[in-house]
Amino acid sequence: MAQILFDLESMQHEKTIFNFEKLFEQNKFDMIIEIGTAWGSLTVFFGVYGIIKHCAIYSFDIAHPQTLPRAYLTQEICDKLAINFICGDVFSSEISEKIKNLINSNGKCLVLCDGGDKIREFNLFALSLKCGDVIMAHDYCYDKNPVKNMTPGHILPQYVEIQYSDIKDAADKCNLEFHLNDNFDEVA
Ligand SMILES: C[S@@+](CC[C@H](N)C(=O)[O-])C[C@H]1O[C@@H](n2cnc3c(N)ncnc32)[C@H](O)[C@@H]1O
Repeated sequence: MAQILFDLESMQHEKTIFNFEKLFEQNKFDMIIEIGTAWGSLTVFFGVYGIIKHCAIYSFDIAHPQTLPRAYLTQEICDKLAINFICGDVFSSEISEKIKNLINSNGKCLVLCDGGDKIREFNLFALSLKCGDVIMAHDYCYDKNPVKNMTPGHILPQYVEIQYSDIKDAADKCNLEFHLNDNFDEVA
């Protein structure tokens, strides 16, 4: 059954926002970049965080939420919560340059890869991260082979779209470190 948050359909696990709270407790972000807005429930959550903590919020989607057959992120919500919704393909040169420039601007940045090709998004935008920035991907699992690698209590995400081997080269190249992975494993 779909999760509803702020009367908007959410594509996240019901505990996700509480895990973001843990991330926010440990990191004061100046900017959040969400790739993949969909109905915008997580975007609204980020928007509220942005208002309270003075953090700029950008959300990108190739489709306009208005084309979705449900309640959606309206321009009025974006205006009230100072959400920058940008409609476009994140792999187009114009939008990918915009995202790289945003990451490169001053301040601590969180990049959430939740669009149509999380592996490509992660590998592309990880290269622009600054020291202290955080990048994450939805539907991530360290290793999607459940037989060899399941540890007791580990929950395999319903739809694994990205695993560590997909991003290892970028992680090595950019000196990425794991951060709160135990928390996010349960909601991946
Ligand atoms: C899994 S949904 C996002 C869910 C949303 N973050 C949430 O938590 O509810 C993925 C979204 O990525 C968008 N998308 C797919 N390919 C894209 C692309 N190349 N550029 C931008 N958005 C894309 C889709 O239109 C879809 O709305």
